[in-house]
Amino acid sequence: MVDRGVGYKDLRGFLSILEEASALRHVRAQVDLRHEIGAISARTLRHKGPALVFENIEGYPGQCLVTNILDDVEKFALALGTEPSVEAIIERIEHGKGRPIPPRVIDSAACQEVVRTGDDVDLDQFPTPWWHELDGGRYIGTTGGVITADPRTGYINVGLYRAMIKDRNTLSVSARGDWEVGAKPPGYSYGAYTHVLLNEAQGKPTPVAIALGMDPLLTYAGGRVLPSESLQHAEYAIAGGWRGAPTELAPCKTSDLLVPAWAEIIIEGEFLPNERSAEGPHGESQGFYNSHSQVFMMHVRCITHRKSPVSYGLICGAREDFPKFMQSSYARSLLATVDNITDVHVPEEIGAGAGMFLFVAARVETTEEVEQLITAIGGARWGGNLRPRWFIIVDDDCDLHDLEEVMWRVGISALPDHDVQITERTFPLMHEPMTRLYDEKGSRIFIDATFKTKQAVKNGKTVGFTLPVNKISRELAGKVESRWREYGID
Ligand SMILES: Cc1cc2nc3c(=O)[nH]c(=O)nc-3n(C[C@H](O)[C@H](O)[C@H](O)COP(=O)(O)O)c2cc1C
Repeated sequence: MVDRGVGYKDLRGFLSILEEASALRHVRAQVDLRHEIGAISARTLRHKGPALVFENIEGYPGQCLVTNILDDVEKFALALGTEPSVEAIIERIEHGKGRPIPPRVIDSAACQEVVRTGDDVDLDQFPTPWWHELDGGRYIGTTGGVITADPRTGYINVGLYRAMIKDRNTLSVSARGDWEVGAKPPGYSYGAYTHVLLNEAQGKPTPVAIALGMDPLLTYAGGRVLPSESLQHAEYAIAGGWRGAPTELAPCKTSDLLVPAWAEIIIEGEFLPNERSAEGPHGESQGFYNSHSQVFMMHVRCITHRKSPVSYGLICGAREDFPKFMQSSYARSLLATVDNITDVHVPEEIGAGAGMFLFVAARVETTEEVEQLITAIGGARWGGNLRPRWFIIVDDDCDLHDLEEVMWRVGISALPDHDVQITERTFPLMHEPMTRLYDEKGSRIFIDATFKTKQAVKNGKTVGFTLPVNKISRELAGKVESRWREYGID
């Protein structure tokens, strides 16, 4: 594969590419920051609609806010400069990940065209929505990269963690930390949570910056688990690999942190040792509102931004402006060595953010093969952003993208007392609803909804299911689809 660059270097450049591809709309009607922008964005996501630029926001004349730029295959392919197919996207992601490019520091950074310090610092200067009706505040950090450095190595980490405005110069930042320092398997990343703990152990504050309006590659890198303890400035370097050019950085005005030079807005500040605060509620991708009681407080010391900065935000929900379809490819890579698996799918529409369901298509003939398959699937390294609990195994002729078909197979093939296995939990169940959602070490259910394994020959006769399945073949369906207009039916 030839690295040929993606044709843009910042969010603005990417918006032009979306516009050229007719994948962007300008919303010129006046809209309210209170819930209206969130509701319009959520509805557009549900209908797989275009990216939106809100240009007439009540109370913020002349400022604009962008949503929905990365949610589907077409838009993400434009971001990566590939063909609009999942296969092409995965190839480019893997190619770029394998060829990280060290970032480079440049002299005059667009993100520092305007510098505000002291009394000039005011988080309210940008249009930040109340995204959901029951949100307890305005979340300025939804797609923003939270930038901290590992005090042991100086390596920078960029993570997407929600950040709520507390007052004009204070933010809460919900960097989760369910890992102890040193407890992660190799290849995982340590982010802001670990960095703060390490600094606190020395009684030190943690310098932090949040980059708002990063380009889509940096945004995507921030939301992925990347090996930031073994690769210097992993998110910057891997985004460079995807871009085919180094990520350009600038030193912060008030710390040694390096931030993306072409971001729209940089918020600089620090976490003071042992300071925690409550935040929320916020409508989350799992489909609930939740609040966090012990999150970091960011004291903002400086805001820098481009002239006429573009705000970029995301409404959290079951559908989100993030390439969730990549969860399936991640699952596929975890199961790549399991021989008889022919397809894997994480259904986004019922995945509650963390991919609670995993559909597996496999070529299996016997119940022993299903047993081996379940052992192999259960032993894969699930975790992080992919924590399936419901594993459904079907024959290889099933279209895993057809929820109706998968559920039909479960209903007709899986006997509850015979074809269902539930594993023991390895961690006590906590009863708070949010703990349920993050119950990574909990039990799992495997449902054998295959047909072939439930067929047998007895006295010369086939008993069980009479295969093949009665459905229109892909070839025939394709032929009819291609001639559909000719038939004049609709
Ligand atoms: C849109 C979006 C919002 C997220 N919000 C949070 C959050 O509020 N807190 C959190 O700990 N992780 C959140 N995540 C997950 C982290 O960004 C993700 O796990 C990332 O890999 C963390 O980087 P790190 O491993 O370098 O800490 C979010 C991810 C996305 C895509």
